[in-house]
Amino acid sequence: MPHSFKRPPGGPMPVGRKLHFTVDDLPMLRRYSKMLCDFLGEFQWLIDAFVLDFFLKNHWELVPETWTTVLEHISIPQIADFLNGRPRFRKVSPLSFLCFLKLCKTLPLSRQSIFVAEPVEMDNYAFEDTKYPLTSAFKRHMKGKKRHEIGRLAKMATGLFENARVRHVLDVGGGQGHLSRLLCFGYGMQVATLDAEGILVEKAQVFDNKVTRDFGRLKYREKVVKDVFRPPVHLERLIGVSTAAEDVEYVTKHAWEDTDINFGLIGLHTCGDLGPTMFRLFAESSQVKALVSVGCCYHKMHHLYPLSAALSSQTLSYEAKEVACHSIEIYVTKLLEESLFKGQIHSFRAALEVLIDRHHPELKHTSLSTVKFVEGMTFEDYAPRALKRVQHNIPVELFSSQEIRDYLSQWMRVATFFALRLCIAPTIESILHMDRVMYLLEAGHEVDYIPLFEPTVSPRCHVIAATKRKI
Ligand SMILES: C[S@@+](CC[C@H](N)C(=O)[O-])C[C@H]1O[C@@H](n2cnc3c(N)ncnc32)[C@H](O)[C@@H]1O
Repeated sequence: MPHSFKRPPGGPMPVGRKLHFTVDDLPMLRRYSKMLCDFLGEFQWLIDAFVLDFFLKNHWELVPETWTTVLEHISIPQIADFLNGRPRFRKVSPLSFLCFLKLCKTLPLSRQSIFVAEPVEMDNYAFEDTKYPLTSAFKRHMKGKKRHEIGRLAKMATGLFENARVRHVLDVGGGQGHLSRLLCFGYGMQVATLDAEGILVEKAQVFDNKVTRDFGRLKYREKVVKDVFRPPVHLERLIGVSTAAEDVEYVTKHAWEDTDINFGLIGLHTCGDLGPTMFRLFAESSQVKALVSVGCCYHKMHHLYPLSAALSSQTLSYEAKEVACHSIEIYVTKLLEESLFKGQIHSFRAALEVLIDRHHPELKHTSLSTVKFVEGMTFEDYAPRALKRVQHNIPVELFSSQEIRDYLSQWMRVATFFALRLCIAPTIESILHMDRVMYLLEAGHEVDYIPLFEPTVSPRCHVIAATKRKI
């Protein structure tokens, strides 16, 4: 099902700005990062409180009493308003709370995309502006979100690679190869991918073959297919935190049969440590001349934060990295456009965690089956579905117990607490990005920081890009 993008009501949408940093900006970025860290330090109690543990650890007690006098009486639309940075409360709010909301909006790096979002682009990116026209086989097997991401990213990255004078690109964590196919067939790049999952590598190959066949059928393209396009080469390989430059340079031989080739690195939603590893490989390999990176799943990062010398004394908890992966924009849309009852979902999960802790402490914080939350859903409906994949002996009668009913009656508190944590998430993501930007600056490179994707469609929306000047 393609998602359906709706333009927010009101006048024309503002557009964001690309930031360009040079080594001279390092002192300013250090000061900015310190400010972010100081702010986060003030709210450690909120950042480190996993919503799963809301009832187990009585999180509501952590919220300052002056704040709860306001928060006890708010509605879901008011939560959406404060998440949107436009708080509207019926009572006079404590200054500390208003300051918190204001700083959550003003401190992080902007998420406003440099492009205006048009519904037609969001829902069904047509790839009409590529260098070479694409056939219909190319457009299959992709949802609207993926089309949006690769459409914007490939175009931006091609310009950067051309500036760095590279025609060869290594797509790190290339998955099913959608981006690599676009770079190759739409922009004429020579592309290789690396991915740890053999099954995805095989799929990428199958999709490539379909596109190549499609081109082949078009007689007038035959020459172009043969002469210009060499389909991507997909290689199965795990990139670890200790992977050395030579280990990625080997693709020049295996994919392009020329060990002297210079190339660019690109990674779209490189999870966990794979993202920062790309930065290190860019800095360490003399053959890698350009870097285009969009990170994701920061909570899967176990080794490579901090990367920069500037933040070497900083740490971020698992909970902090996890909340940085959430999306304010999508949560607000869910609450307001889909239905207000969606606010209850976190209370169900937190109530179930109490039973898990009591009967199966070994399963604490386990990832359970995703349950599609529908209006009128009871805990008795929810719990067995959520627990479907785990062996458990929690007595079913507990699902309808008074204790669980008491927890669920507090669902607005849980939703409010979750929203407070979401408010601070962009600040955490900013510090993670600053770390990567400063690492590149410390190594002497110039860096572009670009809010490229529409955050309501693709919440990990920033690109960090760099080229090596002396080529
Ligand atoms: C979120 S997916 C993104 C896939 C693709 N770039 C896209 O946007 O469609 C992350 C990909 O990175 C791969 N991956 C994760 N960690 C990896 C590692 N350490 N080495 C190689 N591939 C890895 C996964 O198998 C997965 O295909």
